[in-house]
Amino acid sequence: MASVVLAMEAVLSDTAALPRDCQLNYGPNCDGNRKPEGLDTSTVPRPKLGSVPVSGAGIYDCVNPGEIAVTFDDGPYIYTSDLLDKLASYGARATFFITGNNLGKGMINDPSTPYPAIIRRMHKDGHQICSHTWSHQNASQLTNTQFTNQIVWNEIALNSILGFFPTYMRPPYSICGRSCENILSVLGYHIIYFDLDTQGYLHDDPTLIQTSKDIWDDAIDDSDPSTDSFLNIEHDIHYQSVYNLTDYFLSSLLKHGYKPVTVGQCLGDPESNWYRQGPPGSGDALV
Ligand SMILES: *[C@@H]1O[C@H](CO)[C@@H](O)[C@H](O)[C@H]1NC(C)=O
Ligand SMILES: *[C@@H]1O[C@H](CO)[C@@H](O)[C@H](O)[C@H]1NC(C)=O
Repeated sequence: MASVVLAMEAVLSDTAALPRDCQLNYGPNCDGNRKPEGLDTSTVPRPKLGSVPVSGAGIYDCVNPGEIAVTFDDGPYIYTSDLLDKLASYGARATFFITGNNLGKGMINDPSTPYPAIIRRMHKDGHQICSHTWSHQNASQLTNTQFTNQIVWNEIALNSILGFFPTYMRPPYSICGRSCENILSVLGYHIIYFDLDTQGYLHDDPTLIQTSKDIWDDAIDDSDPSTDSFLNIEHDIHYQSVYNLTDYFLSSLLKHGYKPVTVGQCLGDPESNWYRQGPPGSGDALV
């Protein structure tokens, strides 16, 4: 009898210390090998929308001075609902790079989880929803079919919640080689990296998180909102990032005269270009 190997490994990565990527090649029970329920998005036409580059070497910087795009990767997770309350209390817009099925949290479109409602609220609150792939694999270790599934399955899940799916994504571990770029080009995705990383994932402890605040201050204190902008990366799967660091950088950002915006906005891309309408029968029309 074939034994089922559930390989959860703690990878030193952009989310150190949490068990995460199940290894796709080690068996059918791996999170990442389970396809979500929902309409197939793979046949949706993918014309180029707007002028932000599709695929290629990716985007590291905002273009509009005075704007900071704060982005949160790897959620939604158990802290994300509180994070949405916090963002609302500052009147801040942000961007979420959503992973569909990681950290043993279940599929984002499983109606028995809180995640469908959280993702709908993200959109209603004015945040941008982007893809961080289905199960946060290292693209360089996947076949073309496996990587395509990582993108399309997250679309299927997001589309079943929202009726549309994103045109923006961030590759897990910031790894996207030639095959990954080629697939994302065909699928019409903008690849978003960052130019400011406070490394909250490395400092998720009350005695360590000051280091992340110092990284923020080093970037912001001597900057000038009349000429500068930032594309920042955070992770909403870490307690100190959500409950301590976020207050710090949102206060700082506003005090220095910056505006907290989405990635699409800081690139000058109208909201109508951030998503594609799902296949017929997907539900709510894209607004
Ligand atoms: C991703 O996979 C490549 C190829 O196996 C490897 O060189 C690289 O170290 C991996 N990176 C991470 C973060 O797993
Ligand atoms: C928040 O961070 C500071 C360090 O900047 C630390 O002293 C404090 O204990 C942290 N607060 C909580 C509630 O973890």
